[in-house]
Amino acid sequence: VIFDDSKEGSLQVAREISDLIRDRASKGLQCVLGLATGSSPIKVYEELVRMHREEGLSFKNVVTFNLDEYHPMEKANIQSYHYFMHQHLFDHVDIPAENVHIPDGTIPSYAVQEYCRAYEREIEKAGGLDFQLLGIGRTGHIGFNEPGSHFNSATRDITLDHITRVDAAGSFKGLENVPRKAITMGIGTIRKAKRIVLMAWGQNKSEIVKETVEGEISSEVPATYLQEHPNTTFVLDKEAAQNL
Ligand code: GLP
Repeated sequence: VIFDDSKEGSLQVAREISDLIRDRASKGLQCVLGLATGSSPIKVYEELVRMHREEGLSFKNVVTFNLDEYHPMEKANIQSYHYFMHQHLFDHVDIPAENVHIPDGTIPSYAVQEYCRAYEREIEKAGGLDFQLLGIGRTGHIGFNEPGSHFNSATRDITLDHITRVDAAGSFKGLENVPRKAITMGIGTIRKAKRIVLMAWGQNKSEIVKETVEGEISSEVPATYLQEHPNTTFVLDKEAAQNL
């Protein structure tokens, strides 16, 4: 779906999420959301916070699992995804603290494997992801599933691609400060979501959007695996869609 601008697209995505939250609540059910960081979802979170404040949208029945986190990374660090999520969403809505799950960047390396297995189990225990929000990196990564990721991969630690680190260098005040590793949900984890919405804004994303939507399915562009998902929508602005 192509929108005139990122604001229109974001409002549409926020509406879908709020409708889902309300629908699940009306049936007495929890709503399990997979959430993303980066600049792409910021306006969606802004709109959800507005709906909470002005329209009484409650997050009491919402359970969230974030896609990824740098590793190692302290929670209080302003570059952490933990910080980002609290700043843009969790600190402004009524979600119970115990319902929030973000990969923990402070886990020592020797314990990461077991930690990742437990993260997968938590998602399954919650009943699986009802909705997964995604952005896309210029390498074609979703979450931090860099080129080479297997379509059945689970939550794990990965080594970040050079391009991904270059793209993050600005917010880390230099490439040398960008962590080399991250913990990410796998492609397999994401593909199990019942509904997926990937957002991409701006000309900078137009090349990778074309490869993802029209290219061959390949681990070289992990987002192409979404072509096989039965309920995925790409929400784009005109600039991101210009090569389609
Ligand atoms: C990071 C995140 C991804 C995100 C990507 C794009 O790499 N791990 O989940 O999709 O950035 O970020 P942006 O939305 O800022 O372009």
